[in-house]
Amino acid sequence: MIEQQKKRLFSGIQPTGELHIGNYIGALSLWVEQQDQFDSIFCIVDLHAITIPETIVPEYLRKKSREAEAILIASGIDPERSVIFIQSHIPAHTELTWILNSITPIGWLERMTQFKVKSAQLESISTGLFDYPVLQAADVLLYKTNVVPVGEDQRQHIELMDDIAQRFNHLFGEVFILPQPMIRASGARIMGLDDPTAKMSKSLAEKRKGHAIGIVDPPEVIREAVMRAVTDSGKETRFDCASPGVKNLLVIYEVLSGKSREAIEAYFEGKGYGFLKRELADLVIATLEPVRNRYLKLMAEPAYLEELLHRGAERVRPIAESTLKQAKDLVGLG
Ligand code: TYM
Repeated sequence: MIEQQKKRLFSGIQPTGELHIGNYIGALSLWVEQQDQFDSIFCIVDLHAITIPETIVPEYLRKKSREAEAILIASGIDPERSVIFIQSHIPAHTELTWILNSITPIGWLERMTQFKVKSAQLESISTGLFDYPVLQAADVLLYKTNVVPVGEDQRQHIELMDDIAQRFNHLFGEVFILPQPMIRASGARIMGLDDPTAKMSKSLAEKRKGHAIGIVDPPEVIREAVMRAVTDSGKETRFDCASPGVKNLLVIYEVLSGKSREAIEAYFEGKGYGFLKRELADLVIATLEPVRNRYLKLMAEPAYLEELLHRGAERVRPIAESTLKQAKDLVGLG
């Protein structure tokens, strides 16, 4: 019997700020769960990172990319079975972006919520930040990706890449596969512990103590962040009735424990938020402490990390170059 080829999974992460439990729950842990069902490719998107000019500090960016690589592996991505590579090592990403730029109406990019939110916080907005979703489309489309596991905040970008792919295929010929988002039913949008009305973010994690739980934070720092998390003055621990801060803690508990909502509600009923926080801190530490230990060991082996990135790039390069060539031929370039 001929073994059916696996479908392809692709996702990416920016090597900026501090990787946090939102990234872990919304993306990394999903990648780890899914990596063997698919032909999986994970990309550290350093070209996306430079769209915010403060990130362009050469040694910082290079170091952050290696840290992200080590966190992916420490979280359970197996670099032998899945590919991990750095976006800027494969020039086809930027070349395809340019081609896709030419068929992407500005109006489609103006609608992007992430652009609106990020640009509202900046004094000067780079062209790269505006064009960011087109580079993201190139990332995914180059590898003929079937599924893209991400957090809720990336849904709109995946819908946009679907539109771009359809437009290209319609204008020039069928090259691109239309990608599907894969998003957790619960845990796809983890909120800040210090402000449960705002999404937990890498940049705030770096700036504000208590905003996030870092994936590689030491246990005592994790415990302090959980114990200080914003709740309310009541003792409601049902998912549907809890205030935003408590609900966020319950959702983190739900994903990390794998227990049902009914079981969790029964367990925490009437016990107060102090108990919930202590139990959650124990669970988060039990989950992340082994990740931290593996991370520290990996960071002590820079040559190994470098070699893996080199191998990763060599594994994906032929796929990217072949798709780019198909697109260029159809457009009449070359
Ligand atoms: P980035 O680096 O912001 O985030 C990486 C992944 O983590 C998810 N995420 C969250 N999930 C739950 N709760 C949160 N608070 C939270 N914050 C972040 C994100 O949804 C994401 O899945 N543009 C992308 C990177 C990218 C990409 C791609 C992703 C570039 N090219 C191609 C998929 C496919 C980004 O900035 O992710």
